[in-house]
Amino acid sequence: EKTLESLKKQLKTHNQTHILTFWDQLDATQQENLLGQIQQLDFKKIDGWVANYVKNSNPPAIPAGFVPAPFYPSIPTNPAQETKYAKARELGRELISTGKVAAFVVAGGQGTRLGFDGPKGNFAISPVKNKTLFQIFAENIAAVSSKYHASCPWYIMTSPLNYASTLEIFRSNNCYGLNKKDIFIFQQGTLPNFGLDGRVLMTDKADIACSPDGHGGSLLALYKSGAIENMKKRGVEFISYFQVDNPLINIFDPLFIGLHALGGAQMSSKALIKTGPKEKLGNFCLVDGRVNVIEYSDLPDEMAEKKNPDGSLVFELGSIAIHIINTGFVERLNSKGFSLPLHKAIKKIPYIDEKGKLIQPDQPNGVKLESFVFDALPLASNSIILETVRSEEFGPVKNATGVDSAETAREMIIARAARWLESAGVAITRKPDGSVNCVIEIAPSFAVEKEDIKSKLAQVPQIKAGDKIYLA
Ligand code: UD1
Repeated sequence: EKTLESLKKQLKTHNQTHILTFWDQLDATQQENLLGQIQQLDFKKIDGWVANYVKNSNPPAIPAGFVPAPFYPSIPTNPAQETKYAKARELGRELISTGKVAAFVVAGGQGTRLGFDGPKGNFAISPVKNKTLFQIFAENIAAVSSKYHASCPWYIMTSPLNYASTLEIFRSNNCYGLNKKDIFIFQQGTLPNFGLDGRVLMTDKADIACSPDGHGGSLLALYKSGAIENMKKRGVEFISYFQVDNPLINIFDPLFIGLHALGGAQMSSKALIKTGPKEKLGNFCLVDGRVNVIEYSDLPDEMAEKKNPDGSLVFELGSIAIHIINTGFVERLNSKGFSLPLHKAIKKIPYIDEKGKLIQPDQPNGVKLESFVFDALPLASNSIILETVRSEEFGPVKNATGVDSAETAREMIIARAARWLESAGVAITRKPDGSVNCVIEIAPSFAVEKEDIKSKLAQVPQIKAGDKIYLA
């Protein structure tokens, strides 16, 4: 009773008394459950969020005095750089083979755009064998482990919405042949959803509406879940961060890992040269000597369109959510307390009204808040950026059709396989427009990098138009 009274008072101070509207109608278990949910809320922060994000409709201020961030080009441009890349590759290989690098996929998103039921990692994408995203990653990790004679661990972040179903997928697929002790599946946190008036929304009489706290929540969840502790025990120092939607990801890239380590960096990024000023990617900038990502929607048009004398864009580097993050960095952030800015999305969120009736809004009625992992970049004292090549490493599956869809990703998987084979001297038949006119899938066990093909050439059959080829 005492707790309830003090809670009521607290809710009143923060203008959230409606949470207890139906308290008397709840049974003991529901009451206990709701109490727990309320105790999880950080009211001091909530007041700030309501003022700064929910009620305030100004876009976030962009930092003053930003300039383009320096980066390593995908191909070295001078002999000194060539030497450095060779040294970095060697160091990267050594770090992988001594078990100092872990794979980490963020897979807690709701994936609503794809219209696929269940965790996105279970979406089938490979062109011949129809392997799922999770299976492709698992086989990549297995192939790297065997190539480097290491057991590379895999950390998987889910959310309360897809944790159980993700566990079930791994269980029913026997962890895709990986050793159970090398897989660590955990959950990210959530944040409450707000009505546009700043009041927390309720999904029913006993539950607060919540949603995953964004991929930035990974920096908290890695620590809270014990994943960082587990990494430290295993001797992991570098976390290779990637998104669940990219089947082309090169999870263990010796060059990227090596340049990061040589640079004494704490959090680093891969970048793409944007296709144009308005491509919807975050922009890598430098503010007070630190790397920042400025969202495409926040970069003023005249900045986005600004060109160098050679015609290239001044802000040409786009962020594709591929990072190396040090375990020590995550630990330091958490042990001294840190917070990332939040970003708001105005959405249609089902809720109950003051009479307890469930409303399915047909107009956006509420705010979801998320933090973004790249907002931690300015907290790193050192950070490098490596340019990567789109057709080699970025084929996100986001939409059901059109751009960034399963279809475009499959085409990219085939096109990359064809290029890798051609670079090793295999003849590939092409249509007059230059596109490949056969279907090819290279399993990670056959090659995780272009260079792996050379030693396997004897296994490659002659390829004719219309063939379906699977190399494993
Ligand atoms: C994201 C990035 C964008 C980048 C693009 C590359 C943002 C704001 N945008 O866009 O800069 O160029 O990907 O493909 O980040 N996730 C969680 N928990 C969450 C939310 C998301 O784990 O609470 C995971 C998702 O499962 C997914 C990834 O984060 O793996 C990206 O989420 P998504 O919402 O699809 O990002 P995009 O808007 O597509």
